Amino acid sequence: METVIKQKNSIETICAQADHPEKDPYGSHVMPLYQTSTYKFKDAEAGRRFFAHEPGGATHSYSRLGNPTVQKLESVLAEMESVDIDEKAEGMMFGSGMAAITTGLMNLGAGKRILAQETLYGCTSQFLQEGAPKLNIEVTNINPNDLEAVHDAFQKYDDIGLVYLESIANPTMRVCDLEIIIEIAHHHDALVMVDNTFATPYHMRPFNWGADVVAYSTTKYLNGHGTVVGGALIAKKGFFEETDMQISRKNFGGISGPFDAWLTMMGLKTFPLRMKQHSENGEIMASYLAAHPKVSQIWYAGLPDHPDADIINKQMMNGYGGMIAFELSGGYHAGVELMNRAKLASLAVSLGTVDTLIQHPASMTHAVVKPEIRKSAGITDGLIRISVGIEDADDIIADLDQAMNW
Ligand SMILES: Cc1ncc(COP(=O)(O)O)c(C=O)c1O
Repeated sequence: METVIKQKNSIETICAQADHPEKDPYGSHVMPLYQTSTYKFKDAEAGRRFFAHEPGGATHSYSRLGNPTVQKLESVLAEMESVDIDEKAEGMMFGSGMAAITTGLMNLGAGKRILAQETLYGCTSQFLQEGAPKLNIEVTNINPNDLEAVHDAFQKYDDIGLVYLESIANPTMRVCDLEIIIEIAHHHDALVMVDNTFATPYHMRPFNWGADVVAYSTTKYLNGHGTVVGGALIAKKGFFEETDMQISRKNFGGISGPFDAWLTMMGLKTFPLRMKQHSENGEIMASYLAAHPKVSQIWYAGLPDHPDADIINKQMMNGYGGMIAFELSGGYHAGVELMNRAKLASLAVSLGTVDTLIQHPASMTHAVVKPEIRKSAGITDGLIRISVGIEDADDIIADLDQAMNW
């Protein structure tokens, strides 16, 4: 048998060893939590060299600029994201997904036009519609599944500097063709930033299709236990320095705290196993819901009649994840009834925790989005979103069965 020499470890191996410190003076097996705001310099020269960016100085000065525990997590996330590509990547942690996204958008969109997917997580959408224009950042919305519209936007505007996409849209589960859109954007010298929170690097890797920056709410699947709010940006090595992203994070002040980073690292150790189970349960739940007489419509990446099935087959791997959106006949009122009757599934926003969460985007996660934008983005008033957990699928089905039995 031919021996295959792998260049990089698999995501399973990277995650199982996510908390191994590179070196530790006491030989600690687990990455220590450096819960400190500041660092003592050996002498004045070490401090001077640090701030002058000269070699031979201190390695750390103040935790808003960088922290060893946070940096360990950043390097693990970068390794996971770039597992399929030859280049190296780097990561930056933030105190929330929104801190990561807005820092990225302000930094890369300043003085330019952002071409943004119209269906996005509610706060991202609100920032683009209301916050960015106040900062003189122009925003144009498009449906990225309409490639003509993407082409037309680049013909119409010559100031597009950034394209912003969600790899699986929250909450409509639409999946756009990253390869083609990134090719168009790069042809016009625009960068592409992709929020990969729903898909995670277990199911989709935007770098494989040429993305410049990948964004995460690490609050979700990457942490997995619902104990942390956090965010990350990942890019190819050198990008953050070229774009002054570290300076923006330092001055906006959005870095993650060390304890949150440490908890996320603990969550990562079981990330691939959790994702496997979320995905298996997601497929079971989607089939169950698709066949339920009270369900009038369902959106799940793994259903063969998903409108973007061909793109999903090309872009996704290891299954389809645990996020499902559906509509009940009876619309909004039927949805409220279901949410109030669910017992095992928690009625809560957020997603990607090991336990099942159910929520109503129009009145919860996407309430901040103007009704007309919600409508054109396909977020109907009756849409229910479920984040399928890793419980026994039969137990989740039993709960939804009793909740929809009226
Ligand atoms: C797709 C997506 N991106 C970004 C965010 C924002 O993340 P955070 O709540 O960690 O700021 C969310 C939150 O729900 C999300 O669903």
